[in-house]
Amino acid sequence: MSTIDLKGRDFLKLLDFTPEEIAYLVELAADYKDKKKNGIIHDTLRGKNVALIFEKTSTRTRCSFEVAARDLGMGTTYLDPASSQVGKKESIADTARVLSGMFEGIEYRGFGQEIVEELAQYAKVPVWNGLTNDFHPTQMLADLLTIKECFGSYRGIKVAYMGDARYNMANSWMVTCAKMGMELAICAPKAYWPAQDLIDTCQKIAEENGSKIGFYEDAMEGVKGADVVYTDIWVSMGEPDDVWRERIDQLSPYQVNSAIMKQAGEKAVFMHCLPSYHDLKTEIGREKGEQFGFKELEVTDEVFESEASVVFQEAENRMHTIKAVMAATLGA
Ligand code: CP
Ligand code: NVA
Repeated sequence: MSTIDLKGRDFLKLLDFTPEEIAYLVELAADYKDKKKNGIIHDTLRGKNVALIFEKTSTRTRCSFEVAARDLGMGTTYLDPASSQVGKKESIADTARVLSGMFEGIEYRGFGQEIVEELAQYAKVPVWNGLTNDFHPTQMLADLLTIKECFGSYRGIKVAYMGDARYNMANSWMVTCAKMGMELAICAPKAYWPAQDLIDTCQKIAEENGSKIGFYEDAMEGVKGADVVYTDIWVSMGEPDDVWRERIDQLSPYQVNSAIMKQAGEKAVFMHCLPSYHDLKTEIGREKGEQFGFKELEVTDEVFESEASVVFQEAENRMHTIKAVMAATLGA
């Protein structure tokens, strides 16, 4: 494995990392995955502790940080939105300095990217972005590892991103594809495309790396020949309830269904960061399904449960890749 030193670095967004550094983190994660599967103990960060700040809810990211930290020999402290002072009675700058005295690393999941950037600016220890409105970089590492496992490489792979493209997941995909020599087809109504300044930044990076980013209002056109068909929920955490009607009306043509999968490459896989409204087996799914008359939303249950779906492999890879981020930045 290449030797790249990321000790002491923050992990806030992939824009801050070179393609070689990103590739290294994916390789390191694969190595940790092998160790875990073979029962090889790797608790080289014994005696250290990390703080996990969650201002939004989580299953995968929280569990990944907790399990990965434990595997590396570290202790964790979970701070949820209700039980900490973060941002309410105590500023981000003060929180960063308080936690830096007790922990070797800090994870933050919350709202604006500027919050995690400010936390990192004042913290004396590495800060890791566990999702903001703007980026979800640890998810990207898990997705790259999954694609590598499925296709042997991510270079040259075409990803069709369907649906809500103006938020954290599509933003992150633009940066990832631009940096890693991939092709990205954003399939969404124009009003849901990413911000123009980020598009411009990513197009420049794409040129340097032989990558390609295209935008399609016609989903059938954009998804043609894709290796990976990717989607995300249409209403993200923290968004107001009154956007549901408009999202369903605008994004329904971008639902991942069997017709879309047929139009993709013959060996195409389906990926989703999760959680997903692919059925009505959730409280919100049921409530909104009754209100708006749907039984599945951004992906049909048929595709979600199909052979092509690698969503649970992808979810597991969150843990191995988050472990790699902590290990690399803490110098395991
Ligand atoms: N994909 C993801 O970040 O899942 P959680 O919200 O459960 O952490
Ligand atoms: N766009 C989603 C991603 C969840 C992993 C959200 O922010 O809620």
